[in-house]
Amino acid sequence: MIPKVRKAVFPAAGLGTRFLPATKAMPKEMLTLVDKPLIQYGVEEAIHSGMNNIIIVTGRGKSAIEDHFDVSFELEHMLEARQKKDLLAAVRSVSDMIDVFYVRQKEALGLGHAVLRAKEMVANEAFSVVLSDDVIDAELPCLHQLHDIYEFYGCSVVALMEVPPENISAYGVVDAEPVSHNGGSGRLYRIRNMVEKPSPEDAPSNLAIIGRYILTPEIFHSIEAIEPGRGGEIQLTDALKHLLRTRPIYGYKFEGTRYDAGDKLGFLKATVEFALKRHDLGEAFREYLRGIQI
Ligand code: UTP
Repeated sequence: MIPKVRKAVFPAAGLGTRFLPATKAMPKEMLTLVDKPLIQYGVEEAIHSGMNNIIIVTGRGKSAIEDHFDVSFELEHMLEARQKKDLLAAVRSVSDMIDVFYVRQKEALGLGHAVLRAKEMVANEAFSVVLSDDVIDAELPCLHQLHDIYEFYGCSVVALMEVPPENISAYGVVDAEPVSHNGGSGRLYRIRNMVEKPSPEDAPSNLAIIGRYILTPEIFHSIEAIEPGRGGEIQLTDALKHLLRTRPIYGYKFEGTRYDAGDKLGFLKATVEFALKRHDLGEAFREYLRGIQI
């Protein structure tokens, strides 16, 4: 039987240049959608997919992330004294949820390099990678959907999304053939090749890799074997290409909506959608939006 994936790696050491100056002293993973940092959405997705062992790869602004997932005695004491039970529960739920481990990426040398920093903590088991600036709203968490495929095939699985040609050069893009799975919902692909950030003419398909992966531990060998690629960075896509030489990799067109919260427009869209869905805010916010001139 294929053992369940327990560990989730959160690379959070990028420079976040698209969000400067907000990200000068704070990692973009701490940007807030309504009232929760992006990374907490990702951590909750991992927990709801059975992965409670959280490994965060940090760079600058490490303390903001650590403090967020740590117990805050002063704050809890104050909330308790003031009988703010709901807020107390919200604050506690973060620190109670998980076991978090941190590893440092001293220089932002690329996503592949960041994942490699987690090698010793992951050891010899399959693990997931979550890019928390990809926020996914889905009935069944995206990681859970990938895990269901992993449990069946025992191979690495990446999340795929259809992207229009004018945006395709922002992504890693796959050349893949459809695979019928469990009677077939047409969502599963076996990957033949992949290209990092191709021009629309060179893109092998409209299927882009987005920030959710389940990876088998052989990926570490592949990351170590590759040279820096695009932008002089150690790219995870290049390592996946290397892994493809010896292992099958599947792609799954997940069910749900993904927001690119690492980009300003995507972040604003996510903020509006998430606020509208909130029980405590949605109605008032909807009314407000109806009333403004656009
Ligand atoms: P991005 O390319 O989206 O993040 O990396 P970035 O480089 O921080 O952002 P921009 O483009 O300059 O605005 C995807 C994920 O990989 C992490 C980032 O933190 C983000 O979660 N990452 C990237 C690292 O941890 N280390 C790196 O060297 C590069």
